[in-house]
Amino acid sequence: MFEKTSSTNDVIEKLAHDGVKEGVVVFAEAQTKGRGRLGRKWISPARKGLWFSVLLRPDLRPQEATQLTVASATALARAIKAETGLSPEIKWPNDILIGGKKVAGILTEMSAELDRVKQIILGIGVDVNLTAAEFPPELRKQATSLRIETGKPVSRPDLAARILSELDRDYARICDGKFEALADEWEAGCATIGREVTIQIGGRRVRGTAEALDEDGALLLRTEHGHLERISGGDVTLEK
Ligand code: BTN
Repeated sequence: MFEKTSSTNDVIEKLAHDGVKEGVVVFAEAQTKGRGRLGRKWISPARKGLWFSVLLRPDLRPQEATQLTVASATALARAIKAETGLSPEIKWPNDILIGGKKVAGILTEMSAELDRVKQIILGIGVDVNLTAAEFPPELRKQATSLRIETGKPVSRPDLAARILSELDRDYARICDGKFEALADEWEAGCATIGREVTIQIGGRRVRGTAEALDEDGALLLRTEHGHLERISGGDVTLEK
């Protein structure tokens, strides 16, 4: 546990380099260089959220790593629901939304050989007790916190414990080859399936209907031209 660090993902990366075992978790009360997906900044004010990272060394092929992304989103949504009574939705691959606004996100950083994952760092950020004024103005329309949604402060230690135990359970399911059951739960809680979406993948933009998840957790998109395309990463905008 750190009072302040640059990014908990960086701390874990150093520990991983030094050879620590999987399962290590690092929390920080504040991050000065919190990172989001796609090079975005992640604001991490002191004692307002849960900012933490977990080191995993799963026995998976690199293309199966999306399974872990799906598992962590499912675990996170389940934990938030259990602790707050709110009804979170998942936006593929791993944003957690409440009432259409983002409340938590996961940054998955992987290092792999050609056919085997070496390590995965799961960086989890949950906006727990921020007030609206504590979000930068440009984020206020699209981001929220558990406190804003429930109308009262939420216990960070209780939520942290619940997230870690749910994550532990879903990680075991993946390691036991039981991804299918997890994928069904993910699809049921997912705001993306059945929706018209636009996906930005690097410099390319595709539009279509999100139809399903495949067995590795990739999104199957029926494009506006009628093809079925398999998407394993990108930035999704939900249309309509
Ligand atoms: C996203 O939705 O873009 C992912 C956000 C992930 C933020 C967490 S906070 C803890 C960990 N350390 C970081 O620098 N980022 C992740």
